[in-house]
Amino acid sequence: MVDKADSGLMPTLTSLEYVTPEEMAELERRSAANGVGPKDLMENAGRAVAEFVESRYPRAGRVCVLCGSGNNGGDGFVAARYLAASFDVSLVLLATPDRIRTEEARSNWERLAGSGVELHTCPDVGALEAVAGLIERSDVLVDAILGTGVSGGALREPLATAVRMVNESGAPKVAVDIPSGLDPGTGVPAKPTVVADFTVALHLPKVGFKGNGGYTGEVVVAPIGVIADAPLGVRVFQIGVGPMQNFAYLVIDEGSREGMVIDSGWEIEPIVAVAKENGIKAKYVCATHGHFDHVKTIGALADALGAKTVSHEESPLASDVRVKDGDVLALGQTRVRVVHTPGHTMDSVCYYDGKDLFTGDTLFIGAWGRTDLPGGSAATLFESLHDKIMSLPRETLIYPGHDYGDVRFRSLGEESARNPALLARTRREFEGLSQD
Ligand SMILES: [Fe+2]
Repeated sequence: MVDKADSGLMPTLTSLEYVTPEEMAELERRSAANGVGPKDLMENAGRAVAEFVESRYPRAGRVCVLCGSGNNGGDGFVAARYLAASFDVSLVLLATPDRIRTEEARSNWERLAGSGVELHTCPDVGALEAVAGLIERSDVLVDAILGTGVSGGALREPLATAVRMVNESGAPKVAVDIPSGLDPGTGVPAKPTVVADFTVALHLPKVGFKGNGGYTGEVVVAPIGVIADAPLGVRVFQIGVGPMQNFAYLVIDEGSREGMVIDSGWEIEPIVAVAKENGIKAKYVCATHGHFDHVKTIGALADALGAKTVSHEESPLASDVRVKDGDVLALGQTRVRVVHTPGHTMDSVCYYDGKDLFTGDTLFIGAWGRTDLPGGSAATLFESLHDKIMSLPRETLIYPGHDYGDVRFRSLGEESARNPALLARTRREFEGLSQD
């Protein structure tokens, strides 16, 4: 059973020279998942713009930053705050402050109080005309009016008037990310569109810049700390359940927020709560084997999560999906492989995501699954442990089905140096081990 990925992630994003607005949004989303979110990117963007203006126009006295109510405006708020260290800075907000659209932009607007930046709120053409002199007298204009989200047509007021004022000014113009009005996807200019001397492109130039040098002026690319290269991680929630020290696991693909549960164990509430709190769409509830302490609530949990139940093809459990050795379950870009490891029971499987191995009752920290129950075989377990599990990388983390060890998980390398079942060199030696 191989499940096709359907997350919509674009794996080629790291080699791009130009980005579409959709790709940029995806990059920002990945970056946030890697720990660098919208607030960090805005701070870095604003600082990069300020540093560019300082290095290019060191003799300027007055700088005016024109800002819209979206995140392009938010980049402008940050730029103004940094620029105030070197210049007389005025900022024209083309909206009332209550219309600022995102939390990160709003918090940067609030930080302008006491920063030395002269603030002007111009939600309409009349208010804007009152500051026309200020715009005219500025030595440099910074355009942070509109970013992505423009698609040709005519700009609304007071944005259209603001763009006209910028274009009529003789001062050099620096656009933040995109000259306001230019469609970053198609390159179609709105009426009117800022004609910039420089565009500080954040992270990468936009595809709409091609053939539009007349609007962008010289394009300067500013790195803003987007972390897209690191693959989005797999996150493991280890949840203790029931009176027999069972562990249930919720494994999630951070990019897609798709997840799977491995062993439901007993009470389902803690597992459902973790899924809910973290916004996880659980696709599967998987059994490591059919023993009741691992699966007694598997159906109820799958119902509660809207997920499918999964078990090995030899399992006594009725389940939606039957798997065998080597099958793969997809969670977004993450692939979880089924490793058939009989010995504790004939239907015992481990689940391997390339980094973590969920071992059920096949392998514990410091111990291993008993082989004296129906379907159990010490000889078979020895083969599963040594031929299958021990062939995985030493860094693999072992996540057991019960909390029987001195720690809750451990690397295979460390475990193989101390677990008698993994230290045993022969089947005979293993069969001679006692778990007491
Ligand atoms: Fe068991």
